[in-house]
Order: sequence, then structure tokens, then C-alpha cells
Amino acid sequence: MIISDDEPKNKQAIKQARTENLRPETVEYDTSFETNIRPKTFDTYIGQEALKNTLKISIEASKMRNVTLDHLLFYGPPGLGKTTLAGVIANETGVPIKITSAPALERPRDIIGILMSLKEGEILFIDEIHRLNKIAEEILYPAMEDFFIDINTGKSQTVKSMRVPIKKFTLIGATTKAGALSGPLRDRFGIVHRLEFYTDSELAKIIKRSAGILNINIDDEGALKIATSSRATPRIANRLIKRCADWAIVKGEGVVTADIVTSALEALNIDSSGLDNTDRHLLEIMIKNYSGGPVGIQTLAVALGEDIRTIEDVYEPYLLQKGFIQRTSQGRKVTPLAYKHLGLIAPNAQMSLF
Ligand code: ADE
Repeated sequence: MIISDDEPKNKQAIKQARTENLRPETVEYDTSFETNIRPKTFDTYIGQEALKNTLKISIEASKMRNVTLDHLLFYGPPGLGKTTLAGVIANETGVPIKITSAPALERPRDIIGILMSLKEGEILFIDEIHRLNKIAEEILYPAMEDFFIDINTGKSQTVKSMRVPIKKFTLIGATTKAGALSGPLRDRFGIVHRLEFYTDSELAKIIKRSAGILNINIDDEGALKIATSSRATPRIANRLIKRCADWAIVKGEGVVTADIVTSALEALNIDSSGLDNTDRHLLEIMIKNYSGGPVGIQTLAVALGEDIRTIEDVYEPYLLQKGFIQRTSQGRKVTPLAYKHLGLIAPNAQMSLF
């Protein structure tokens, strides 16, 4: 119900909502944008060229039409720069950004509080948006479409619903699983884009840029070697640079060379394809316990002692990208390439079908 003829009460309730009752307590804001190695402009953000071009056009058009940018949904494996890109968009558009994640928006008051606190044109970034609960989703629908929220006041029988306007804003949702988003939520995003894995040369550029900011001495071969072992993912590359720099200082001459990277990665149990112990263990379990598959994800999760989500979000995308596993309707299968990588011989001729 809309209470438009009850202005004073309405205003009072809104004021109360804006102050204490609906203040989100679990929302986290990222304030480290200015001080870390994340790029802040499209020019310094390396890779994702197709997406960047689409975004530049949308931003330009929204500026020319003087309207807020359409809501955006980014999906793809973790660590590919979804949050970073949201920061770049905010910076290039000249608007503030609030960063939170769906698990922090557990209670209705969390999402209502954050929506009511938004300034005109502000970007709201919600990470892991596929984990938003049904109530939060329903609060979000009118907020995204028409920039208002419905707030219920009073108790059980006397409950009243008020339509409260909020400032026009842009929602940027990020998810590792676009398929897990409800249809109505997905449909409310004007731009839906997948972030791709990075090439070795893009990653090498990212590594050199980050090394420059962090005052780390690295040569071209060292950068490329880290790049090829970073699972095509900038977050991992940036983590490995620091570990290799430590190694260079303690065991070398302070310069991250290919040899330094080789020894540092060996100590970290990361192989030439960027696989770590868990990746190799996963492949080995599939080979030794299930004859290379097909094996269901639940079975694999139990055997590996990892939860299904971690396998699906963290391990599987890169193993699929490398061609080490295949997804079939009966489950996951190991490919001959994986056998070769592990120094094993693929058991039968059927494998050559891959
Ligand atoms: N750091 C993390 N992701 C990056 C990217 N895409 N470009 C430059 N630096 C980054």
C-alpha cells in the first residue's frame, strides 16, 4: 500500500529508517582503492578489451544523455578483476562507489539501509550477487527499475507499506555463476558481460605494472614465467610477484628473474602450468579412484574434502580452460592432456576421442 496522503507520518518513518533502524551493520566498504595496485582508469586496466570498449561507449552515452549508467552484471571466475573494473567505471564516470557482497546483505534492513544511503548517480557494487536471498532480491527489483523501495512499518495486523524514493544509482553485480542468478534479477541488468581469462602477454604486462608500483625489480623473462604460472588470473599473478620478490631478496640478487621464479614456484608447489597441490590432487583422485571419470561433482567434493562451490568456482574453470578436464552430462572426465601433464599414460584408446 502507498501512503501518499499521510505526509508527516511518512516523513517521520523515513527519517527513522534513515537513521538507526535500517542502518546496515554488516556492510563492508572498500576504502583501499586509492592506495593499492588496482588500476583506476581504462588506460591502465590491461585486458578485457571487448568489455572495456562496450563500457566506454555506455559511459560516454550516459554522460551525453545526462542519465545514470545502466545496471551492469559481470560474471566469470574469481580474480579476473570484476571489483577492479567497477572501481574503474566509478572513477571514469566521476561518481562514488559503495562495495558490498550478498552475504553481508542478509537482513532486509541491510539492503534497505544501503539503498537509502546512496547518493545521486552512485554505483552500488554487490559481489557474489547470486547469493542474495529472496527478500533482498525483491527489495532490489523496484529499486533497480524505478528507484523506490517498499518499506513495511507497524506490527502484524497494522502493518503498512510505504513507497520510499531513493536516488538514481547504478547497480554493478558480480558473480562467478551467472546461471545461479534468478531470471527476474538477471533481466534487470542492461549490460551482462563475461570476464575472460587473461593471455600470458596481458598478465606479463599486469605483472610489470604492479612490480613498478611495488618497487619490485623484475626482468621480462621473470614476468613471463610468473604469467604462465598464474592460472590466467591477475589476482594470482599479483600474489606470486610478491612471493617471488621475497625469494629474489633472500636467495638472489634482488631481481626477479626466470630462475628465481622457477625456484620460488617450486617451493610453493606450483607447477609450470600454474597448477597447485589441490589441482593435481583433484586430477589424481579422478584418475586413481574413478578411472579418469566421468565422476559427479558431489562425489569429487567428498573425495577431495572441499566444498562443491570451491571446486566449481576456483578449481574447475582453470582446469577446463587448460583442457585438463571436460564436463559431460555424466560428470567430469580427465583428458589425455592431463595424463600427459602428470607424467601418466592415458589408459585406453577411448581417450584419444578427446
Ligand atoms: N591488476 C589486477 N587486474 C589488473 C588489470 N586488468 N590491469 C592492470 N592491473 C591489474
